[in-house]
Amino acid sequence: MATNRDANIRFFDRWSWFYDYDPVSWWLRWVQRKVLKQVVVGEKTRLLDVGCGPGRALWFFVKKGVKILAGIDLSSKMVARAKGRLGNSVILKVASVDKIPFPKNTFDVVTNTEAFHHFPVPQRAVNEMSRVLRPNGKLYLADINFFSKTIHWLFKKLELGHVKIYSKKEFAELFLKAGLKVVVQRRVGLFVILTVGKKLA
Ligand SMILES: C[S@@+](CC[C@H](N)C(=O)[O-])C[C@H]1O[C@@H](n2cnc3c(N)ncnc32)[C@H](O)[C@@H]1O
Repeated sequence: MATNRDANIRFFDRWSWFYDYDPVSWWLRWVQRKVLKQVVVGEKTRLLDVGCGPGRALWFFVKKGVKILAGIDLSSKMVARAKGRLGNSVILKVASVDKIPFPKNTFDVVTNTEAFHHFPVPQRAVNEMSRVLRPNGKLYLADINFFSKTIHWLFKKLELGHVKIYSKKEFAELFLKAGLKVVVQRRVGLFVILTVGKKLA
């Protein structure tokens, strides 16, 4: 039986070939930009993008002048796309959110857009993203939520590797248990929930 990991690798390796071009990806890009505009960064911010896909978020921060950038993604094909876009200016690794290959307290900001519903163990994923944040650092997590259990059920049927779509309350609980104080929680572009958490010092 295929594991969640195998299913996600298969799904996203395939999607990587046309991720920048299909209408779903355009919608994801539109919402992602709305989220990224809310991320507070400076030139010296150390930022990690988890589930970086083909590197669109990282490219956004390169253009903002952020110098210390890293990205991880489970799909080697997505990471190859990101490398094509970003060159050697960004540290890129093939890795799962379950075991982020960086020491604790490394980053000022961690971003994660439109990927969380694929992560196999949600609490472990938030714990890992919190672990690599320095005290007072911020996690910006944005993921889809369509209000309707029927649509969520349909998504699970259609997407390989899909685990679960979460509510605001569920995100808040995951953050709290990972030592993150929720400082912002709102809908962005109607169908995405953004939760921002600050790591307690
Ligand atoms: C819908 S894409 C979103 C990509 C990008 N964040 C964006 O907003 O355009 C979801 C990404 O999550 C990655 N992913 C899925 N499971 C993962 C895991 N366990 N660890 C890290 N990345 C994962 C996929 O390979 C894929 O690139």
